[in-house]
Amino acid sequence: VIPALDILDRVPLARHTTLELGGPARFYLRAKGEADVISGLEWAHRRGAAVAILGGGSNLVVGDDGYDGLVIEMVQCGIEEQARGDRVLITAAAGEEWDELVGRTVSAGFSGLECLSGIPGRVGATPIQNVGAYGQEVSETLVSVRAVDRETLAIVTLDRDECELSYRDSFFKRHPERYVILSATFALTPEGAPAVRYAELERALAQIGSFDLPTVRETVVELRRAKSMILDGADPNGRSAGSFFMNPIVAAQDADAIVARAIADGIAASEREVPRWPAEGGRVKLAAGWLIERAGIAKGMRLGNVGVSSKHALALVHHGGGSTRELLELAERVRAAVEARFGVQLVPEPVFWGARLPM
Ligand code: EPU
Repeated sequence: VIPALDILDRVPLARHTTLELGGPARFYLRAKGEADVISGLEWAHRRGAAVAILGGGSNLVVGDDGYDGLVIEMVQCGIEEQARGDRVLITAAAGEEWDELVGRTVSAGFSGLECLSGIPGRVGATPIQNVGAYGQEVSETLVSVRAVDRETLAIVTLDRDECELSYRDSFFKRHPERYVILSATFALTPEGAPAVRYAELERALAQIGSFDLPTVRETVVELRRAKSMILDGADPNGRSAGSFFMNPIVAAQDADAIVARAIADGIAASEREVPRWPAEGGRVKLAAGWLIERAGIAKGMRLGNVGVSSKHALALVHHGGGSTRELLELAERVRAAVEARFGVQLVPEPVFWGARLPM
């Protein structure tokens, strides 16, 4: 006997997003297992309804009119561990809380995810964004992803190469209609050394005088907390989707021109003051937060019920009682200011449902 699917009607999505914005989902299903995901996809297919997949809602902007289709929330749990040579393979279900997984691996003494501490959201979303922070990326440890093919409903396993991971990007992000991620497998290193590659993290650890795995985790969490990048109901910058834009990757000569102009205009006193990192193909990654501030958008600025985080210019914040429309107006203002000042196009980082930029 196939149990009836518990499809809910008109579920407000605001309470399922960390921005606490957005209208309702026309239909809503909490998927507690793989069978629920497949049944939900079948149900939507029969009705000709669109399907969107929801994890922790921490990187999601939902339009004020909501989502006119079926939202499947991934709540399935389960973590398995398997020794494989000098590595340990950890497979976690899509609905597991990401930071609980990271905490568990750090406690077990497995290195590979420690710098990704304190990131909100669930496991299934991490390969989509190729989540990264403080010098570490999911792409370094991800081995494979188990997924449902949305067309055939077959369950497939994709290896890391098939995921096509790069900075905040993947096959899944470019083709959201193709797969639903059910679980992800990571290869971690027992008694491995933590990754200390980000200057800010390295300085903080040197001050503490310890570079062990638990200290790296605690320190990353503290660095994130100082930027209001930890989910905390008491934080006035708390309602956000983390970084609202990706760090732009530009040609080396464009980066040089931006640095030269910043110095000429007195925005920076020297080259060293302009944050940038080498990126793929000889290109240069710039810091969107730095560009935003230097384009005249101050931390803590407000526009009605939304604003820029007072701790980090890259996070847009909802102060309560606002709308997605207001948030998008602010985002557009930020985008336009950076384009006017530096000729750089910022691209939003979150996923958008029933909303877009420019409006
Ligand atoms: N900066 C400013 N003003 C600001 C914020 C930052 O000038 O308001 C400068 C900082 O001084 C620093 C540089 O920009 O020199 C970089 O800032 P930060 O170290 O805070 O990192 P980020 O580049 O702004 C990225 C990720 C974060 C991740 C951090 C740490 C993206 C879009 N964001 O931010 O990820 O935690 O690095 O590795 O790549 C997220 O994706 O939601 C996220 C929080």
